[in-house]
Amino acid sequence: MVITIDGPSGAGKSTVARLLAQRLGYTYLDTGAMYRAVGLAALRVGIDPGSQEAVSSILDGLRLELRPGQQGAAVFLNGEDVTNQIRTPEVSLAASKVSAHPQVRAYLTELQRQMGQKGGIVAEGRDTGTVVFPEAEAKFFITASDEERARRRWLELKQRGEEISYEEVLRQQRLRDKNDSCRRLAPLKPAPEAVIIDTTGLKIEEVLEQILRLIEE
Ligand code: C5P
Repeated sequence: MVITIDGPSGAGKSTVARLLAQRLGYTYLDTGAMYRAVGLAALRVGIDPGSQEAVSSILDGLRLELRPGQQGAAVFLNGEDVTNQIRTPEVSLAASKVSAHPQVRAYLTELQRQMGQKGGIVAEGRDTGTVVFPEAEAKFFITASDEERARRRWLELKQRGEEISYEEVLRQQRLRDKNDSCRRLAPLKPAPEAVIIDTTGLKIEEVLEQILRLIEE
């Protein structure tokens, strides 16, 4: 079975997807981590993540791998573990920019389909139910209010030692939301058959139980 979980950043979808995969004994496919790795690669070689031409030119030389890790999946870029480096605000913005390029989407969509070939996966991202796995057996779209999402993300960054204000996190999140939902390719939207879950005020366990119940039906 392929299960897809899409939605905006900070809605809690990563935690839910990771726990769901654990409970079912499935593989967790974090597609956002792959866009982040491409964003990081662009920053490292000093090219503008917003330049379609420049970013496309580095794709062939990239070796991207997701390996099972303690916190879900570990991300390897050309053999180096970049799991932590891809979580900074700078890389978040770069990921959002590279994700607008058709060559990047085609490249990563293909990799994601290969990873999902055998089934038994929980795929999480923005377009896993609409574009990557349109035939998935169960689709969810997880969302929450802007403020709640920014608050969760801010707490997460603070725990990681990042010095950033809540207002700045909210501002950057709105910018990314705008990039993600206004882009021409794979704009963020629920698949028509997706179950929409608003997690504002809900605990992760409540969301998880709700999804498990729906899958078992
Ligand atoms: O989910 P996460 O915040 O890690 O994703 C980082 C960025 O990658 C998002 O802001 C979005 O622009 C992009 N993305 C995407 N399609 C996906 C997953 C992520 O465009 N399936």
